[in-house]
Amino acid sequence: MKEGRPSVTAQRVAMRRAAHQLLDDPKVFDDPVALRIIGKESASALRADPRQFETTALSPYLRAFVAARNRYAEDELALGLRRGVHQYVILGAGLDTFAYRNPHPEGVLRVFEVDHPATQTWKRARLEEVGITFPADLTFAPVDFETQTLAEGLRSAGYDPGKCTFFSWLGVTEYLSTEVVMATLRFISSAPSGSGVVFDYMISPSLLTPAQRSRFDALARRVAAAGEPWQAFFDPGLLTRDLRAMGFRYVEDKGPEEINARYFMSRKDGLRVGSLSHVISAHV
Ligand SMILES: C[S@@+](CC[C@H](N)C(=O)[O-])C[C@H]1O[C@@H](n2cnc3c(N)ncnc32)[C@H](O)[C@@H]1O
Repeated sequence: MKEGRPSVTAQRVAMRRAAHQLLDDPKVFDDPVALRIIGKESASALRADPRQFETTALSPYLRAFVAARNRYAEDELALGLRRGVHQYVILGAGLDTFAYRNPHPEGVLRVFEVDHPATQTWKRARLEEVGITFPADLTFAPVDFETQTLAEGLRSAGYDPGKCTFFSWLGVTEYLSTEVVMATLRFISSAPSGSGVVFDYMISPSLLTPAQRSRFDALARRVAAAGEPWQAFFDPGLLTRDLRAMGFRYVEDKGPEEINARYFMSRKDGLRVGSLSHVISAHV
């Protein structure tokens, strides 16, 4: 991210979630706050022309992936609640809207939004601008993953390390160093039994086919130009092995075939995810 500036990709991802609400039927991820959170001007522009941010052939695949990973995280959170989850930590929250449409009964789930301080300040201003009030069970925890530990940031926000916790970490790992990603996963693995995480990651470029590699390079150039270059990539088999070694008892890695089979079957519009990223659900 550019020094002292909010994440540009956080707004872009939120635009894709908002576009999904307008363009795709049936919706994979139903988010009634998605249009408000992008800001009044962007929302009017998107309503006037829902395809205006669909600038390349890759756009529908990216929109599908953003919708699917949010849906998967919230599906797994719901399962986590049955395992006794009481806290939900949204890492690199960007313009995630879960806290403002939380479907679970009041008092069941304490929500923490963790994000880079610059992005979080910008989000809070956006929430005020569009008239979304902060729910009582939400706490903001400003943390720069590259310079602060998650443990410190969460502790000062009132996180209880003794409670079963679910973490989501969507669209963030690729922007961090491998060391920071692994340290964060180790921290999550130390949470009480039943705690879990859903996160997505980019496949190592060396494992991609030439066609995938050219799509990867095109996207990598775009995020680098926005000042948020990709840094961390993983081999699915090795990452699963490392998660198990950290103490995650259950690890499920979903590639494009599994994601498409689960969320995009029998659609008439052909919407589906592409092949550059995977999603993992793991719990201890
Ligand atoms: C592509 S956005 C994804 C936002 C959100 N998870 C979503 O899916 O809409 C990337 C997020 O990672 C956060 N991020 C990037 N680098 C970070 C860092 N060093 N520390 C904390 N957050 C960071 C950005 O602030 C931004 O919110």
